[in-house]
Amino acid sequence: MRDFLRRLPKAELHLHIEGSLEPELMFSLAERNGVSLPYACVEEVRAAYDFSDLQSFLDLYYQGMNVLRTAEDFHDLAMDYFRRASAEGVVHVEMHFDPQAHRVRGVELPVVMEGLSQARRHAQRELGMSTALIMAFLRDRPAEEAMALMESAAPYWEMLDAVGLDSAERGNPPAKFVEVFERARQLGIPRVAHAGEEGPPDYIREALDLLDVCRIDHGVRCLEDPELVARLRDEGVVLTVCPLSNVRLRVVERMTDHPLPQLLDAGLRLTLNSDDPAYFGGGMLANFEACAEAFGWSKEIFIQLAGTAIEAAFIDETRRLDLHRQLAACL
Ligand code: HPA
Ligand code: ZN
Repeated sequence: MRDFLRRLPKAELHLHIEGSLEPELMFSLAERNGVSLPYACVEEVRAAYDFSDLQSFLDLYYQGMNVLRTAEDFHDLAMDYFRRASAEGVVHVEMHFDPQAHRVRGVELPVVMEGLSQARRHAQRELGMSTALIMAFLRDRPAEEAMALMESAAPYWEMLDAVGLDSAERGNPPAKFVEVFERARQLGIPRVAHAGEEGPPDYIREALDLLDVCRIDHGVRCLEDPELVARLRDEGVVLTVCPLSNVRLRVVERMTDHPLPQLLDAGLRLTLNSDDPAYFGGGMLANFEACAEAFGWSKEIFIQLAGTAIEAAFIDETRRLDLHRQLAACL
């Protein structure tokens, strides 16, 4: 099974590139940039990754990315991840990135965009990997700040595959961001949003109704609302589920409690993703393997999930056909 899961051509639709920052790279970037870290060694960093909820993770996530200063840093961050992912059989990566979390440190959008764009070209050339870019708004920051970011991103609008919504969910409903998502819609930029990770099922409904998203990131709490589940199934809405993330952030207690089997039984369209692989105990392969172990799924189920990711990816139809062919060839 392990060999099969590695060979399976996997498209990752839910990854925060800043959450792929491994402690080793954190230390080398800290040294390169003369940034001091509150940790003595790599082991100490890993030991600190013991989270009680989303906020306790976000605190360390924003602290960790403090080492990212230059375009080269963002390039190295992304390439470090793309190489690891490629070695795990990942063929396509859609990365969220958090410009507001960099701007507060004086790192402006052009710096981030230069580094990530270089890494995307590099990944295509060196690894044959396609990538997509999702500019995320921080939902625990004011809506006006999100709108200002949207406008300041004008030189890059054409490079954005989508905009997204992340960070602390509770108390920050999708409704807060209606205007900026409407602006993205006017500009023809697709939309996704985190909803129903820690927040209630109503946030999933709001994301669909008010933000007009084409996918829901996480969405696992939809199960508390049978009417919503029926709607998600009928409309074929894709949920980008992140099992190891949900365990580490205590959305569920352990993998065997994860609602993935119920979501699947309900007829929902699902994909498996790593979210923040450096913080949550592994990348795509680790997430697939954890599901195999916890649920005893057949190869057919993993093929179905991998197929859904290809269907829902922000890629052109030529690449989509290419990936579907790779998936068929792996059988
Ligand atoms: N949830 C919400 N916001 C995030 C996450 C997450 O798992 N990772 C990075 N930002
Ligand atoms: Zn996420």
